[in-house]
Amino acid sequence: MSATFLGVEELDGGRLAALGARIEDLVGGATATHALGGRRVALMFLEPSTRTALSFQAAVDQLGGRSVRLDPETSSLVKDESVRDTLRVLAAQGTDAVVVRAPWVGTAQLVARFFDGVVVNAGDGVGEHPTQALQDVCVLARVRGGRADAFSALEGCRVAIVGDLSHSRVARSVGRLLSSVGAEVVGVAPREWSLDPRAFGAVGVTNEIDDVLDEVDVLYMLRIQHERVGANEHVDVASYRARFQLSARRLARARPDAVVMHPGPVNRGVELDDLVLSSPQMLDGLQYAFGVPTRIAVLEALAEEAGWGS
Ligand code: NCD
Repeated sequence: MSATFLGVEELDGGRLAALGARIEDLVGGATATHALGGRRVALMFLEPSTRTALSFQAAVDQLGGRSVRLDPETSSLVKDESVRDTLRVLAAQGTDAVVVRAPWVGTAQLVARFFDGVVVNAGDGVGEHPTQALQDVCVLARVRGGRADAFSALEGCRVAIVGDLSHSRVARSVGRLLSSVGAEVVGVAPREWSLDPRAFGAVGVTNEIDDVLDEVDVLYMLRIQHERVGANEHVDVASYRARFQLSARRLARARPDAVVMHPGPVNRGVELDDLVLSSPQMLDGLQYAFGVPTRIAVLEALAEEAGWGS
């Protein structure tokens, strides 16, 4: 049987609550089940990744599965083999699950259409990054409500997502999931990298970080995603830094209880300065710590949905 996690709209109330509760258990020290018992999981990462790829790999290990990593440099994808033909090879070799990251929107949906098994979207172009959103919303629930599933603590929470919105799948998934649990999301971006607020569950977008600094509870910072910036778009990093960097000076003007998040990788000295990165308000360490528990919870749930335990 197949089971998928392709986008945050699949996290309806029941699924989100169950995943949040399981993530809370795992973060509290519970051990993973043997849900993948010997199953083979292809980590099909057609774009670079550190946190996401390694956390899926660790999750597969802990769940008793076997992972095989395909990357664009060393696979036949470099010889222009299509994703669809690659999937045929994986299926013939007895692959049970595919975790896919690719530079093209809709790749995870394409995989789900042609691969009969478990499929997880680990980031598709500027589409979605649903496990990142699940992880970060659970981190915020824990910080504000004491538990990874205390989603009611996020009602009315004001979150600014700041930076290169137009090229960010993280903004789209995190913003929509946050707004689905009642947070109020606002975007901050340079005019040329702005995004329709509806695309990320926001109530609006402003072009100055200084407009929102003292109004929000969470500053969710993004990297300039140079790999998706068009060849004819000019990137002026110095002026970006001046207008959008969260510096220690700016953080001092934010609410004293405001927290800072970032999905990583951080470009130090661009969107964040070193002092903010070492401040107690910075939650990136907690975000990284939730990475493996989040992927364990997702894979366990999908294994159950696919009927692997029975
Ligand atoms: C993000 C991604 O790849 O979408 N990183 C991640 O998975 N933690 C964000 C980014 O690349 O800036």
